[in-house]
Amino acid sequence: MVNRILIFCGLIAVASATVKLQEVYSWNIMDWNYPDQYLKQQALQTGALVRQNALPVGIERWRNKLFVSVPRWRPGIPATLNYIPLDAPYEPSPKLTPYPSFKGNELGNCETGLTTVYRIKADKCDRLWVLDVGTYGYDPNVTNVCPYSINVYDLNTDQRIRRYVFRPEDIVSTTFIANIALDEGLTCDDTFAYFSDELGYGLIAYSWEQNKSWRFSHSYFMPDPLVGDFNIAGLNFQWGAEGIFGISASPMGADGFRTLYFSPLSSYTEFAVSTRILRDETKVTGSYKDFKVVGTRGRDTHTTSKVMDVTGVQLFNLIDQNAIGCWSTNFALKPQNIAIVDKDDVGLVFPCDIKIDEGRNVWVISDRMPVFLESELNYGDINFRIYVGSVDSLTQGTVCETSPPVTTPIIPTSPMLKPFLYHDNSVSRVPPRILLPNTLTNAKPMTSTFNPQHLTSISSPNAISRLYNPFINTKQTSKPFIASQQSPGIHNNPWWLKNTGEYRVEETY
Ligand SMILES: *[C@@H]1O[C@H](CO)[C@@H](O)[C@H](O)[C@H]1NC(C)=O
Ligand SMILES: *[C@@H]1O[C@H](CO)[C@@H](O)[C@H](O)[C@H]1NC(C)=O
Repeated sequence: MVNRILIFCGLIAVASATVKLQEVYSWNIMDWNYPDQYLKQQALQTGALVRQNALPVGIERWRNKLFVSVPRWRPGIPATLNYIPLDAPYEPSPKLTPYPSFKGNELGNCETGLTTVYRIKADKCDRLWVLDVGTYGYDPNVTNVCPYSINVYDLNTDQRIRRYVFRPEDIVSTTFIANIALDEGLTCDDTFAYFSDELGYGLIAYSWEQNKSWRFSHSYFMPDPLVGDFNIAGLNFQWGAEGIFGISASPMGADGFRTLYFSPLSSYTEFAVSTRILRDETKVTGSYKDFKVVGTRGRDTHTTSKVMDVTGVQLFNLIDQNAIGCWSTNFALKPQNIAIVDKDDVGLVFPCDIKIDEGRNVWVISDRMPVFLESELNYGDINFRIYVGSVDSLTQGTVCETSPPVTTPIIPTSPMLKPFLYHDNSVSRVPPRILLPNTLTNAKPMTSTFNPQHLTSISSPNAISRLYNPFINTKQTSKPFIASQQSPGIHNNPWWLKNTGEYRVEETY
């Protein structure tokens, strides 16, 4: 036992010194938890569960829950919003649990269900912001079963506390809302959410306090026609119509406002606007010059998802490069000032979503989406992976490496504590179940080798920063993954493009 513990500690030291993104979960195919085996069999028999139709696309971490969204592009998705309990015994390929329930995920139930969710975002006030795009199927078989709606859940009670349907003026005929960013003020009421309308080329702002939304238009939301060609996993396709996609708010500036960074998917350019403009409904006109060009990331830097750390480091997915990139807003945005923080031609094929949690852990989900959509996934292979790594370890040794801002009230002298500086106090409400190196000798045999609560061990003064499970595989870096077969009909249109085709909703639970 003692030997095992020593080996364990040794591996931790090695892991934290050398490894960047660590694989925590992986799946060949997704699956769901049902209340009992009978209900599961029934779901399989009736087609309410068709496992090979599930592609996870969005993630978010809040305390002991890791949320995973699965759009209803094909039949047989029992829940579009789900989570993995991080405090349960570790399983490398956990089944998904619907959030808040199967019932709360009912397809086509616009009032109390959820039809298709892509992006989710938790806030400091323990609310989960969920955009239901309301669609079933995908190009060319899409129907709008429900209107676009913002659904906000109280994560402490698992109750939906608000549903807001966008005004008709916020939506255009081509609207596809691709991403969410939150702009949190000093109080919980003072929260704004922004939504990128990728194919309608708009940016929608929503005020929690006013329970009201408005829409900005700008030519910077449009795609760059010169960079609409994509090569991913050996597939070549054109997503040339793709406008504003990844959006992310900076930390609050001296003026009390944040900067919202955004970039169209079919573009290598980054733009920005102050939330002073976005928060003000009267600015929907006459604010053309308030939108700024930030710079360019350089070749092969299409991105769909970005996040910004409290230190002003932006992390983003690089879908052409099977990689995660970084840029520190302390420097001008140009190719020399961006870096690859991690890359893997097998494991990071289509790193679909990236999030930073309260403990400054970076979470990444990769899902080989273009292969799912344009060709066919091989279910004998690992197709979906979730990784985690700390912001500091990811940016270490790159041009994005930063020291914490001087405004931080208490700067612990131990570098070990650095990653926890920005922890929200709420996190310490998670019952601490921390295995510290110096207490390991008292630890019970571990039923769960990976305990993600280690990642939030702020409440402990001698917390160590990266206590990863050394038994978790690190990423393969062997032969690059290439889709095995090319589908004859690669769409020139994106998967979400609306269409009037008939598609009957006939799932029942
Ligand atoms: C769309 O639906 C029709 C009728 O259900 C079907 O024949 C066709 O194969 C579907 N197309 C796609 C791309 O799924
Ligand atoms: C917010 O607006 C929606 C309209 O989409 C309405 O149904 C809801 O009752 C409003 N909520 C509050 C708290 O005012």
